[in-house]
Amino acid sequence: MAETIIVTGGSSGIGLSLIKILINKNYKVINLDLKPSGIDNVIEFLGDVSQYQFLKNTVSSLEINNVSIYGLVNNAGISQKGDFLYNLTEDDINKVIQVNLMGTIYLTSLVLPLMLKNGKGSIVNVASVIGKVGAYNNEVYAASKSALIGFTKSLAVTYASRGIRANVILPGYVETPLIERAAKSSPNETAFYKELASRHPLQRIGKPEEVAKLIEFLLSDDSSFITGSEIPVDGGYLAR
Ligand SMILES: NC(=O)c1ccc[n+]([C@@H]2O[C@H](COP(=O)([O-])OP(=O)(O)OC[C@H]3O[C@@H](n4cnc5c(N)ncnc54)[C@H](O)[C@@H]3O)[C@@H](O)[C@H]2O)c1
Repeated sequence: MAETIIVTGGSSGIGLSLIKILINKNYKVINLDLKPSGIDNVIEFLGDVSQYQFLKNTVSSLEINNVSIYGLVNNAGISQKGDFLYNLTEDDINKVIQVNLMGTIYLTSLVLPLMLKNGKGSIVNVASVIGKVGAYNNEVYAASKSALIGFTKSLAVTYASRGIRANVILPGYVETPLIERAAKSSPNETAFYKELASRHPLQRIGKPEEVAKLIEFLLSDDSSFITGSEIPVDGGYLAR
């Protein structure tokens, strides 16, 4: 029987690339996003991952329908407003933490019982190289992403004996609408991309599918001995 994977933020960028790969590999895919993915055969739940009640209702409806869950990919994320920390409002700060960190913690807490019932599962959390090393005007984003590393490691240690693996990935910069928005708001788009590329020893930013393929590997049995790992997919960004 095809395994079922829940993906958050599957309607754009890395998540969209992932759900296309998963559908091609015959997984059943459930996408939680603010907007639909437009991909055939994907079950969509539209809502905000930072809203606990939305997540609770979604997971309850899966439970009622006896859906067994094998995989969970906490991918939905937003960037920090590009300004100095002291210029951010309480709302600017909370939003980043609520979506990137709390959304992941809430959803994982709700989905874990279904995964445990399934007896076998894989959780992949999408952090960032910015969870490991500093980046200009990125304090809140960095806090949300480095917290995901600690969160994932404790999950791995706690649930290994019950068949659940958990890993966290650290992408470098990737060509997605998230980065396109940042480029558009910069003074010079070409210079922006050139500078980003130069931070990676491979001298380019990544493609969404280069990250999505790693996530698919971590979901699959090919990675059966990998748990509790933080895995860069970053063109060498963290190697410097
Ligand atoms: N693009 C990069 O350079 C990069 C680098 C490192 C890490 N990441 C991380 O990868 C993940 C995916 O980023 P991306 O670049 O594909 O972004 P993206 O903006 O292209 O896609 C993000 C998706 O998440 C959804 N989303 C945003 N907020 C949501 C919410 N509150 N509830 C539900 N869905 C929501 C959006 O609608 C969108 O479909 C994020 O966690 C991001 O932090 C991205």
